[in-house]
Amino acid sequence: MKGLLKFITCGSVDDGKSTLIGHMLYDAKLLFTDQEQALVLESKVGSRGGKIDYSLLLDGLMAEREQGITIDVAYRYFTTEKRSFIVADTPGHEEYTRNMAVGASFADLAVILVDASQGVLVQTRRHARICALMGIQYFVFAVNKMDLVHYSQKEYKKLEKEIKKLAVDLELSHVKVIPVSATEGDNITLKYSHMPWYEGKTLLDYLETVDIEEGKGEEGFVMPVQRVCRPNQNFRGFQGQIEAGSIREGEEVTVLPSGERAEVSSILAADQKMPQAEKGQAVTISLSREVDVSRGCVLTNDTELKVSTMFTSTLLWMDDKELTQGKNFLIKIGTKMLPASVMEIKYRVDIHTGEQIAVSKLYKNEIAVCDIAVVSPVVYDTFARHKSMGSFILIDRVSNMTSACGVVEHSLRRSENIVWQKLDLTRETRAAKMGQKPVTLWFTGLSGSGKSALANEIEKRLSIAGRYTMLLDGDNIRMGLNKNLGFEPEDRIENIRRIAEVAKLMNDAGLIVLTSFISPFESDRQNARSIIGEENFIEIYVSTSLEECEKRDVKGLYRKAREGKIPNFTGISSPYEPPEHADIVVDTSRKSLEEAAENVLGQLEGIRKYAGERSESC
Ligand code: ADX
Repeated sequence: MKGLLKFITCGSVDDGKSTLIGHMLYDAKLLFTDQEQALVLESKVGSRGGKIDYSLLLDGLMAEREQGITIDVAYRYFTTEKRSFIVADTPGHEEYTRNMAVGASFADLAVILVDASQGVLVQTRRHARICALMGIQYFVFAVNKMDLVHYSQKEYKKLEKEIKKLAVDLELSHVKVIPVSATEGDNITLKYSHMPWYEGKTLLDYLETVDIEEGKGEEGFVMPVQRVCRPNQNFRGFQGQIEAGSIREGEEVTVLPSGERAEVSSILAADQKMPQAEKGQAVTISLSREVDVSRGCVLTNDTELKVSTMFTSTLLWMDDKELTQGKNFLIKIGTKMLPASVMEIKYRVDIHTGEQIAVSKLYKNEIAVCDIAVVSPVVYDTFARHKSMGSFILIDRVSNMTSACGVVEHSLRRSENIVWQKLDLTRETRAAKMGQKPVTLWFTGLSGSGKSALANEIEKRLSIAGRYTMLLDGDNIRMGLNKNLGFEPEDRIENIRRIAEVAKLMNDAGLIVLTSFISPFESDRQNARSIIGEENFIEIYVSTSLEECEKRDVKGLYRKAREGKIPNFTGISSPYEPPEHADIVVDTSRKSLEEAAENVLGQLEGIRKYAGERSESC
């Protein structure tokens, strides 16, 4: 018994995919049930001691389910005397690329159908490329409809050659080609007399015997921490599933990202103390000394896991909205979820030809090589070395939908070689000298909404009250630091990112910072919040309506925009996404500047992160 084989079938309706699977099930009188039972089965043959392994649902893209998206992938289970199988059946058409990626992320092997009468098609390449991207290493090319080419060995050989070339192009390592006829049944489960020249295994025979564990060169011990459990004062355990290798009591482990080392003092599996545990087991590990461990940290030994903030990845864009360079997301990598941005789209890979094309945007179902920057150091591995530590999903910060899935190609050395320099004078000491709590007051609103006038008035009042401040204003900063940026979405993303970084530095210097930028996109404001820090970020929405702003039209820009003379003008030809949870909302159309400023300052006093203890004692 070889255990469980999870595979995906790829092919279009006309390729005979369903016939092939149907024939296999029918011939072998195999049973198939629904997906839930498949899960139970996988758990039985797996190493989870018969319990349902819910981690299956979290594997790779399965995390999508957490996001509440239903994806049309049919999973079927069947079993023979030699092996159990789960097959993911996904639609082959290009618009279902996402479904295929989901199915492939779960599978160890792909059966790709090739129509013998048509040869290797563009879509054959696409299917193989997506499967390879999602980490499948074992491929069976079932050359179907051999009956239509009169079981010709010559035709088959020609196709086999094309497939081998494709395998080289895509760097596929384990490739098997089998001539079949799904309708007639040749070489599905039985060998008939039509193709005496084929000496290899039938499809089912191959699937029953292929050893997918062979050559899986994962090294060392890896356990991503899913939960820290502290049932009482005396015990602190780290729970997770062992992803690679094994661990014994008394052995030393390294905690990443901190790099601290400690000995394993106990291992618990299903509430039982154990001297050792291995790959696949869910365990609770306690350590010999207090070290800083939280969810998303990794306990490890003898591995070359990376800890850094930047890496190059290949990703599959799945969102209806296009990806703009610089856009930020939440990334889920290993057991960690944190803010990240797509720093650069290096090139798009043509799914059909493999050609590398320079682009600045990415559309649904496209694959591209991109550099990703994460807000703080994360632990990961390259996908080639370690599937679960090297794959990730990007989640839209506003809609909460999975926008992309991707795999890590390599880390960016420039991020590995930069080490944060600890400084003796801290933000706290600098701020204490000024006698204030440095925060950023982030004003957002349409052009002409009164942000700048209001921020200016508030800065004056703070200064009079003895505060040390700095005002960063959109138009002014665009004349200096950001003069190379325009108003395309990617430029606005970069504009806001830079301002957030500058505001943070000024907060570090001890200053209270006021920023006045349209900052029209919610995800950018969220990114600014992550950079500056939730504790220091106060969002002030100047909610003056578009009608009022246009009526004022102080700079005459709305008129020009209406005449089509300014492209991408916020409110006219480019959207403004109003904040839903601003700390303060102020409409300047109903108040004088003084009233509005007083109103904002009054509200600020009630905000704990601004006023601190002063507000608590009120
Ligand atoms: S943001 O969208 O990137 O935050 P920012 O606040 O820096 O914009 O700059 C906005 C100012 O640039 C506006 O007040 C206006 O004076 C000017 N401007 C010029 N072109 C545009 C445009 N297409 N959309 C919005 N503002 C523009």
